[in-house]
Amino acid sequence: MSRRRVAIIGAGVCGLTSVKACLEEGLEPVCFERHDDIGGVWYYTDQVRPEQSSSVYNSLITNVSKESSCFSDFPYPRDYPAYISCHQLHRYLNQYAETFGLRKYVRLNTKVAEVRQTDDHVSTGRWIVSSVSTTAEGSPREEMYDAVMVCSGPFSRSFTPKYTGLDQFAGLTMHSREYKSPEPFRGKRVLVIGAGNSAGDVAVDVSHVASKLYLSMRDGTWIYPRLSHGGTPIDMLGSRGLFSYPASINAHRRRQTLAAHVNQANYGLETSKDMYEHVMVNDELRYSLINGKVLLRPGVTKFTRTGALLADGTTLENIDAVVFATGYVEANVSYLDDSILAKDPTKLDLYKLVFPANLPHPSMAVVGFFHVRGSIPPVAEVQARWAARVFSGQTKLPDRQTMLERVRRDREERHRILGDHMRSKLPKIGVIPYRDEIAREIGAMPSFWSLLLKDPQLAFRVYSQPPLPAHYRLVGPHTWPKAAEYTKEAVANTFYSLRHAGKDVTSANKMAAVSSMSVVFVIVVVVMAIVLRVVM
Ligand SMILES: Cc1cc2nc3c(=O)[nH]c(=O)nc-3n(C[C@H](O)[C@H](O)[C@H](O)COP(=O)(O)OP(=O)(O)OC[C@H]3O[C@@H](n4cnc5c(N)ncnc54)[C@H](O)[C@@H]3O)c2cc1C
Ligand SMILES: NC(=O)c1ccc[n+]([C@@H]2O[C@H](COP(=O)([O-])OP(=O)(O)OC[C@H]3O[C@@H](n4cnc5c(N)ncnc54)[C@H](OP(=O)(O)O)[C@@H]3O)[C@@H](O)[C@H]2O)c1
Repeated sequence: MSRRRVAIIGAGVCGLTSVKACLEEGLEPVCFERHDDIGGVWYYTDQVRPEQSSSVYNSLITNVSKESSCFSDFPYPRDYPAYISCHQLHRYLNQYAETFGLRKYVRLNTKVAEVRQTDDHVSTGRWIVSSVSTTAEGSPREEMYDAVMVCSGPFSRSFTPKYTGLDQFAGLTMHSREYKSPEPFRGKRVLVIGAGNSAGDVAVDVSHVASKLYLSMRDGTWIYPRLSHGGTPIDMLGSRGLFSYPASINAHRRRQTLAAHVNQANYGLETSKDMYEHVMVNDELRYSLINGKVLLRPGVTKFTRTGALLADGTTLENIDAVVFATGYVEANVSYLDDSILAKDPTKLDLYKLVFPANLPHPSMAVVGFFHVRGSIPPVAEVQARWAARVFSGQTKLPDRQTMLERVRRDREERHRILGDHMRSKLPKIGVIPYRDEIAREIGAMPSFWSLLLKDPQLAFRVYSQPPLPAHYRLVGPHTWPKAAEYTKEAVANTFYSLRHAGKDVTSANKMAAVSSMSVVFVIVVVVMAIVLRVVM
């Protein structure tokens, strides 16, 4: 029997892990990528590429540490620092693609123009995918696929608010999507608008070269650090055990962590926003604020030819440049008709954020259309694994009514918790509960009691230490033989690059071996000396 063909749209984090998941399930993936390399947002170029929906800047450092943000069977190299740069992440994605032979399934410079149902879709669930070359003229190529994975990115384009007078402003304007380095702002008076991660990063980056840097927020923000006490990455302090505490205890702990990093009242950052939904991950901004390199200002109400009017009635004069770090329009599905997948992200009826619940067959999956209090790659990976198992028939979905009911409940729950505080249109999920739930769907969720019988030390680590992606390769389909060993060493790996700086891995290992041998030698000598003394 011929293998079921799966069209995967996009070769970013989500597309690549989807190719791998399809191969694991014996499916035949074809991955379409409109740009000339894999990596999506992590493929850095000095200029924004045509049609690129979102992009990273040269100084970007990821906001979750490496052991919590890798794929489940492919850790970052040990000598990478705990928080990696966008360039290291792109290298990692390339290594992932090489190691698992994914590249040959990717058609670069090929844009999907349309995905539509076949005439017999109601009985077969098949799709027609129409694609065009982005480098050569030619008519679209149409092919039939058994299933489709939508991996075209959580952002469709940048968003700039409409301001009175902006068209009169004479200085330089750009969106953070186009921001690559601080150089164009050297010696200038710059205004950065926004309260998200981009705003914080760009403001700090530009403040090093600008003559004046204003950061305008319309309603403050919560600032969350990367590091906790002793410089431990904060995400390495979580655990499954911790997350089973009542929500009120977790909320109290979070408030304490936030307050310990920045006292909002002192820093002028007070906000009415939800402390889970609206977070800026930034370690440097508080220093830039307290040493006056970044000057915090309220929201902009109007632009003039040379400056801006602010919500408190004050003005900013002689502004040379404005950076709008005002986010993105979400969910990139322009190639799909609204009846299949709504372009308005609030109307995406996705069962557990993956399967469009209104289709007659489970032959389409969406990967990566969410925000997460954590890192995206390992969450996207469990989604892709689940989708591939459903396409291969290994896992079944409930009936359509049950799926639609779940979609409705999820939406109501989100409204109940957040009300007016919803920042993004795509849902923001908790990394542990969501990943565990999807892992249960694919049979990859380790049970504490079964682990305890087999390997008590491992059971203890899985439930008391950070919830590593590798935990989902300990049991179930497509396990990783090194998952248990890796689980035991991952916490130490966090600091590996610091403790072994300048030493190559082999010599570092030898040194560790030598030093532990010396300890054993000393203990043996001391014990022998005591025994001899007692005997003689
Ligand atoms: C500035 C910035 C910083 C970020 N930092 C972090 C971070 O630290 N940690 C984190 O977890 N997340 C971060 N993110 C979120 C990031 O978007 C996700 O981590 C993740 O990379 C998204 O992967 P993706 O594959 O869904 O989308 P993308 O990376 O956007 O990839 C989608 C791919 O689909 C292709 N594509 C789209 N439409 C078509 C089409 N019609 N035909 C063919 N190809 C198509 C695109 O060219 C692209 O290559 C950041 C995002 C931004 C913008
Ligand atoms: N280092 C990193 O890891 C890093 C760096 C950059 C980005 N990212 C990720 O990339 C994604 C996009 O981040 P982002 O910061 O670009 O976008 P974002 O998180 O959506 O933030 C957009 C900001 O724009 C503000 N805004 C929107 N409309 C506005 C208006 N009309 N007037 C004034 N302000 C307005 C919002 O303010 P309000 O809050 O008041 O609504 C919000 O603070 C996120 O997933 C983020 O985590 C990560």
